[in-house]
Amino acid sequence: MTDLRIAQLNMPPGMVDFSAGQPSPSLLPLALLRKAAADRLGGNDAPFLAYGAEQGDGYFRSALAGFLSEHYRIAVEADQLFVAAGASMGLDLLCTLFASAGDTVFVEEPSYFLALRIFNDHHLNIVGLPMDADGLIPEALEEELTRHRPVFLYSVPTFHNPSSVTLAAERRQELVALSREYDFFIIADEVYHLLNYAGVPPPPPMASYIDSNTVISLGSFSKILAPGLRLGWIQAGAPLVKRLSGCGLLDSGGGLNPFTSALVRSTLEMGLQHTQLTTLKTAYTQRKIALCKALKRYLPETVRFSEPDGGFFIWLVFPEDVDTKQMLAEAQRQNVGYLPGVRFSSLGRLKNCARLCFAYFDIPELEEGARRLGEVFKAFMNDDYRMKNDE
Ligand SMILES: Cc1ncc(COP(=O)(O)O)c(C=O)c1O
Repeated sequence: MTDLRIAQLNMPPGMVDFSAGQPSPSLLPLALLRKAAADRLGGNDAPFLAYGAEQGDGYFRSALAGFLSEHYRIAVEADQLFVAAGASMGLDLLCTLFASAGDTVFVEEPSYFLALRIFNDHHLNIVGLPMDADGLIPEALEEELTRHRPVFLYSVPTFHNPSSVTLAAERRQELVALSREYDFFIIADEVYHLLNYAGVPPPPPMASYIDSNTVISLGSFSKILAPGLRLGWIQAGAPLVKRLSGCGLLDSGGGLNPFTSALVRSTLEMGLQHTQLTTLKTAYTQRKIALCKALKRYLPETVRFSEPDGGFFIWLVFPEDVDTKQMLAEAQRQNVGYLPGVRFSSLGRLKNCARLCFAYFDIPELEEGARRLGEVFKAFMNDDYRMKNDE
């Protein structure tokens, strides 16, 4: 039978699957894009329907540079921006252009699980590095550099996926110094940087270091506007942007997503993106607070987590002997889901962890999901249950 689905995610009614790492349908900005489309499509000129400039629509990049300068609190120039069809596509293109099969990529442990899949597609050798509450540990990186010559270090420095940890400001400088000394690129996936729910801003983005020519920053409208737009950017120094813009893919197909860029340019110029960011931050802050409160109520203290200051995720750490992949069967029976920690490990570890996303559901569903999770954990910790299921 023909698959007529439009969306990737298919959430069964009544299910609270915390694994969905995306905005809820109620937060998708249809009315806002209608306004932007009326603005952009109302004229008689349609250069955005021609093949696009290789680096991406210049007016869109200028508008984006202005938006980022304000929200990153650093000076961002349009020349530093290369338009990509989302951060994932940007990451894939970087692998295509700068890595060969068998090259080594350093990742954080845990790491964004779908970046690991992209590195696998490129047959890269993945090496996991430890993190603590301040992010990736520079001493551990330095030690691994005595054993490997990586082409990339891939990091989610701010409001990490899945752990929500933020890399400390001084560590950012240490990593940049190491990338220069040992000659590797840092790919900083900064898609959550603008989703900050604390009173104080996070440390400056890794994008502040692109003049080193070893730092490449990825950004995306998926987390601040809508993932279906497939629009993101790579921010890098001039030689890197030149290499990206000169690749065969763009020579053949032109710059990426000129039509979408034109619409999103209007959202930037009309202040609509700014408004949407404020709306999202308010909604996600409330959802995060509600879920953390419900988890504290329904889960015992043996299940640890930290309340995140931004991003989408809560990282649960269960007692050592709990295998969250095994527990998922019981969760699904109780109409609740999550992503088991092992999915985020390049080393086959983190079996007692789980990632919950608080962006997809409204508060009553988040609370109900937490309640079900408490029941699941109780049932799973019951020895009879475990014995039966281990057989
Ligand atoms: C760290 C990280 N990078 C990239 C992406 C995907 O971004 P995009 O939709 O722009 O490809 C996600 C989405 O979950 C993410 O969490």
